[in-house]
Amino acid sequence: MTKYIAPSMLAADFGNLQRDIEMVNNSEADWFHIDVMDGVFVPNISYGMPVISAIKKHATKTMDVHLMIVDPDRYIEDFKKVGADILTVHYEACTHLHRTLQAIKAAGMKAGVSLNPHTPAAVLEDVIKDIDVVLIMSVNPGFGGQSFIENTYKKVQQLKALIEFSEAETLIEVDGGVTNQNIEQLLEAGVDAFVAGSFVFKSENPTETIKELKNLVSF
Ligand code: DX5
Ligand code: ZN
Repeated sequence: MTKYIAPSMLAADFGNLQRDIEMVNNSEADWFHIDVMDGVFVPNISYGMPVISAIKKHATKTMDVHLMIVDPDRYIEDFKKVGADILTVHYEACTHLHRTLQAIKAAGMKAGVSLNPHTPAAVLEDVIKDIDVVLIMSVNPGFGGQSFIENTYKKVQQLKALIEFSEAETLIEVDGGVTNQNIEQLLEAGVDAFVAGSFVFKSENPTETIKELKNLVSF
């Protein structure tokens, strides 16, 4: 099965955004991971619609938008307009998750649900067939450059079992602290898509780093 590498643009150089977008375009990366933070759901503010539109203008790959915002239903159409292909909301931010997922799909996007480190995979049992991608947070959301939480492997395995049992086609994505040191173990646990921010953009040669990650999960 295809495995996806998703560089997180949160770690890009915003003064040289077009350069970094083109680096991703010309690399072996599969998706652009776009982190939206509202300063309420998480203790940080990142960027919003104008920056996403600017990325979309140059990006030639899937736009994987991760919303760390309260009440995301208010902006579903807006994120479609600025170019999101996958729109991921947090389980912890949605009172009517099933309705939110239907709204994302009705707007013409793939629907994702993200789980904070304290949220068990089992909460998704009754909606798993409606979810295209589950994004497991392997750090507490809000900042790049944090260290990977080891409990993630177990959660991926539990989610994988739930997906198989339910005969769902949901992809598993992991976000936070992903490096060449843990990516193979994540692959083994059942991960399909790997977000990497600092490990890619803070490396000497981001294109080569993406290639290294891609090689570690392709065979
Ligand atoms: C954290 C974001 C991540 C972050 C990952 O809240 O959701 O996507 O950019 O960055 P690294 O790979 O540096 O942990
Ligand atoms: Zn993210």
